[in-house]
Parts: sequence; C-alpha cells; structure tokens
Amino acid sequence: MADYFLKCADCGNQQKEDAYYVSCPTCGGFIEVLLTKVPEHPIDTRFASIFKYHPVMPYDPLQEDIVTFEDYEDTPMFIAKRLSEMMGIELLMKDETIMPTGTWKDREGFVSIHRLMISGVRDLVLFSSGNTGTSLARSASIIKGPRLHIIVPNSSKKRMEASNTMIDPDYVKFHYFEGSNDECIDHAKIFTAEHGYQGEGGFTNYARREGLKLFGLEFILNWKKPIDWYVQPIAGGIGIYSFYKAYRDLGLESQCPKMLGVQAEICAPMVNAWKAGSPTLEEEHVPQAVIPSDYVRVLRTRKPKESYPILKKIMDKVNGRFESVTDRQIHDALRLFYREDYFKKAYHKEGRLMGLEPATALAGIVKGVQDGFIRPSEKVLLNVSGAAKIGDIRMEWISDLL
Ligand SMILES: Cc1ncc(COP(=O)(O)O)c(C=O)c1O
Ligand SMILES: [Zn+2]
Repeated sequence: MADYFLKCADCGNQQKEDAYYVSCPTCGGFIEVLLTKVPEHPIDTRFASIFKYHPVMPYDPLQEDIVTFEDYEDTPMFIAKRLSEMMGIELLMKDETIMPTGTWKDREGFVSIHRLMISGVRDLVLFSSGNTGTSLARSASIIKGPRLHIIVPNSSKKRMEASNTMIDPDYVKFHYFEGSNDECIDHAKIFTAEHGYQGEGGFTNYARREGLKLFGLEFILNWKKPIDWYVQPIAGGIGIYSFYKAYRDLGLESQCPKMLGVQAEICAPMVNAWKAGSPTLEEEHVPQAVIPSDYVRVLRTRKPKESYPILKKIMDKVNGRFESVTDRQIHDALRLFYREDYFKKAYHKEGRLMGLEPATALAGIVKGVQDGFIRPSEKVLLNVSGAAKIGDIRMEWISDLL
C-alpha cells in the first residue's frame, strides 16, 4: 500500500486517515490523498486485478484480507484504425464497457466501499442516476456491507433494475424519487439528515476519486508511450481529476497530456464557466433546466460547483479544455463506433453496445479535429467509459451498421 496522508487543499492540514471524511475536519475544505513518496515499483505482480496497483493505492492486500473482493482485469487498449484514418489522428481507445456492470464507475466501487468498512460506517446515502449507484451496489453486495440507500430518479428505474442479479437486497435499498437529478440530490441530503446516516459526498469523496485513478494507472503503466490528449465525457468530472492524479502519484505530472472534457450542449455548465474564463462555477453558468433529450441520460449534472474550480486549475496546467456537442453530433458519433470491427464484434459476440457517454466524448474529438484544436497526427486517448444500459439507445439509430 502507498504510504499516505489526507491533506486539505485549502488549509494544508495533514492527517492520518482515522475516520470517514468528505471534507477537512479543520476548515471544511477539499481533502486529497497525498502519497509521501513515488513508489519505486508501482505494480506488484504477485497480485491480480486492481490489487497489483496497491503500491500507488490506499489499500493493502499484504495486510488486509481483500483480494477476493474484486476480480476484473485491465481493460483492452487498441488503436481505432478506421477512425484514425478518417480523422487524420492516432485515435487510441480504452474499452471500459467490459467492466462487470458495463461502466468504468466499477473502479469506484471497491475503494469506496472498503473505506466505509474500515471507517465503521454502517449506512450510506448516495444519489445516482444509474452507473455509480450500480457499481457501489455491486461492491457493497460482494463485501457485504455497509447498507447503501441509493436515491434514484424514477426515470432511471429500468436502468437500475437491469443490474439486480448482482445486487444483494440485504445491503442495498433503492429509493425512487420523482424529479430531476438536482432535486434528487436535495432529497438525498434531507433523507441523510433525517436518518442520521453518512452522506456519500460526490466529488468530495476522495475514495471515489482514488478508485477512478486506476484507469489512469492502468493506461500509463501498460501503454508506456506519450499521448497528446485524454478525452472523456463529463458529469461531475471525477475522471479528469483522477487521470491527472495518476500521473502525479507516479511522479510523472509533467507528462500528463492535454485533457478534453466533453458535455452535452443541453447541460454544459463546465463549458459555460470555462469559456467565460471563470475560476468558479457561478449561477449564470448553470443551465436553468435540462431540456429532455434521448441522447443524454447520465451527463445531467447542472451544478458541479465543488469540482469545477479544481478541474479548471488542472485544465489550465495541462492546456486542456471543455467543449459541448449537440444531440445530432452525439448521434453521428455513436454510429462511428461501428465503423470499427472491434465494436461490431462486441455486439455480435457479447451483445455489448456503446453508450451515449462515450459517444458524447467521441463527438468532442470529431469537433476538435474539425475546429483544429486537435491537430493532425496527434495521439488521442478516448475513454470508452460505458456500455448502453436498457432503454439508453434505440436500435434504429445503428441497426444498419451492425
Ligand atoms: C459511463 C460514464 N461516463 C462518464 C461519466 C462521467 O464521469 P465523471 O464526470 O465522474 O468523470 C459517467 C458518470 O457517471 C458515466 O457513468
Ligand atoms: Zn482544511
């Protein structure tokens, strides 16, 4: 396990992890896991799955009985040849759709739930429109605790129910609520206070951020070649923070590529704030209402107030940017996946279809090439962050290509 402290980015307070924190106990500020040194050997080949990365992670398979709690292996990475040719860039993809519940949010599962267990938390309340909730629910069911109370908008009911086979009802309770994501988040806060339970914390939950760091570690330590861009779809933006932190924790901060965070035009608060050059997210950047769209299921966070200022600083360091794309561009990009045999095979062999979120990010790459901020021959990594869940896409959008 990495030797680490929890450090407050606001007041500088450093302490050992002696409880479950989602904010600094001294000033309420933003807590980060600070490694005391760069590990000499970041991979421990005696272990499988995520446990081999323990020298850079806050868990210890040498001292703790945890290796049976996760079993997925590194996800595939490959050059998308057809799309690379089409766009005149080198487009590299990392396919997270093969994860147990179909999205990269499974990387948040073990680390988040394990933190709760070692800190003695018994009941946790979280909001989820589907993917994070399913991932944490799967991990709580494997680890057998703590109890999760997941507040889900009614509109995501079918998506959640599709994963029921992995979920143990003794440890996971879904509470369906009629309302937008933001109304559900408010409801989750009231529910938490009423029952005296622990709130999950979203972006401020460092365990979730450390979990997603595994994506970056896997990429850096296995691909080993420099890239120009890292591109992902953005809701709260945990992934941008975590990708950068993977470089930082490996002592490779200066090698972190430019990053492109892509949002859907109907809900693009980060893009609005970034284009205005604002260091913080203000009311004028927040969409007043999120217009319903068949192309936007997950990326609907209207007020990422806590994450935006931190992401803005990271983007400034790496020369990154936020961009938005229209429904039409998401539709066209979704179809692009099936120009690659890899994704046709994924469908025919395993029934896996690409989700709207990676299509949103791919649309951002197409836009970048057209607008010229992604330059010819640049090496671009796309995070293919999730598969389509039930009801996410309509077959008629893609059936002619399969
Ligand atoms: C499939 C998928 N991709 C991307 C994201 C965005 O991740 P974040 O904004 O937390 O980095 C999410 C968030 O839930 C997701 O489920
Ligand atoms: Zn502090």
